[in-house]
Amino acid sequence: MRSQVSLAFLNTGQGFIVALGLVIVMAMAANGVVNGNMTIGDFVLVNAFLIQLYMPLNLLGMVYREVKQSLADMEKMFSLIDRDVEVEDAPDAPALRFDGGNLRFEDVQFGYDVRRAVLAGISFDVPAGRTVAVVGSSGGGKSTLTRLLFRFFDVGAGRITIDGQDIRTVTQKSLRRHLGVVPQDVVLFNDTLEHNIRYGDLTADDAALNRAIDQAQLRDLIGNLPDGLATMVGERGLKLSGGEKQRVAIARMMLKDPGIMIFDEATSALDTATEREIQRALRDVSKGRTTLMIAHRLSTVVEADEIIVLDQGRIAERGSHASLLARNGLYTAMWQRQQAEREEEELDVAQDPGVVPDALAS
Ligand SMILES: Nc1ncnc2c1ncn2[C@@H]1O[C@H](COP(=O)(O)OP(=O)(O)OP(=O)(O)O)[C@@H](O)[C@H]1O
Ligand SMILES: [Mg+2]
Repeated sequence: MRSQVSLAFLNTGQGFIVALGLVIVMAMAANGVVNGNMTIGDFVLVNAFLIQLYMPLNLLGMVYREVKQSLADMEKMFSLIDRDVEVEDAPDAPALRFDGGNLRFEDVQFGYDVRRAVLAGISFDVPAGRTVAVVGSSGGGKSTLTRLLFRFFDVGAGRITIDGQDIRTVTQKSLRRHLGVVPQDVVLFNDTLEHNIRYGDLTADDAALNRAIDQAQLRDLIGNLPDGLATMVGERGLKLSGGEKQRVAIARMMLKDPGIMIFDEATSALDTATEREIQRALRDVSKGRTTLMIAHRLSTVVEADEIIVLDQGRIAERGSHASLLARNGLYTAMWQRQQAEREEEELDVAQDPGVVPDALAS
């Protein structure tokens, strides 16, 4: 606005000076003609001179605005450049040597704020090719585990290793190349559906794209959209439903085909039937691949090799589904609660199909 105001002043002032000068000079020239010491031709010549002089003056306003705008842009750029990078690669860091993908958390402690620990010493192992599930109450630090793994933050104490290499010692680029995530809050670019899926691997061919679309159960959706794959998804993907966004994220990750897969509530927004289909597809692709699965709905993780129950930043219980049930602890309580809820829902629907179940109505 300041730039616009000053430009308006400049233009007005310039116009005023130009007009005033023109009047005075033309008056002088006219006077000369009247007195007889100038001819009509001289009068026209003076006018022509003046016009040639003013032309470049008019450009001045435009140049002024350009310079102002560029200065503003440069300021923005420098403030961006000056921003500190929170997590930096170690000098001369080598690339990650990926070998099967043995993932290890060793006594990891972390807090976003020094005054409050989110993870208070977490140790677990995901052997290459195995699936480990993490469950626990909301805010327990499950998503934080994935952020640490991607090195969006560095651990406060302890370490995270992949195939024996501390992830802080390798480059972030090589680390992230081997990791694929379906995040809890999917972010899409305001671009076409196709570009958003291809973002997983920009060099993928059409066959791979189609495979990913099928695995993520996106075929029907694309068939129903008037523009198909060319549909614009809107800012952050706001024109897609929550479940559709999740499926785009799943397709994106399948296309990337990473060595280690992380699912953070990957199917939480889907209906039971679609969820079952996708869970089957996920099981297929995660076979033989290191997988970290975070879920609230316990029924989606019963087949994991190990289930870890996080509570208050610590591992409260761990083991297979059956052994956890046998312990009769936190996990059992969560499981029974969810089973009861599900039965109630099914009962409600069965008894009175006209009534919307609570879960849907709220
Ligand atoms: N960027 C952040 N800055 C500060 N605090 C954060 C940040 N992200 C998360 N937290 C806090 O850390 C805690 C753990 O968050 P996290 O996202 O890991 O929970 P979660 O176990 O994934 O929960 P949910 O099941 O609801 O997804 C929360 O109490 C949250 O308030
Ligand atoms: Mg989370």
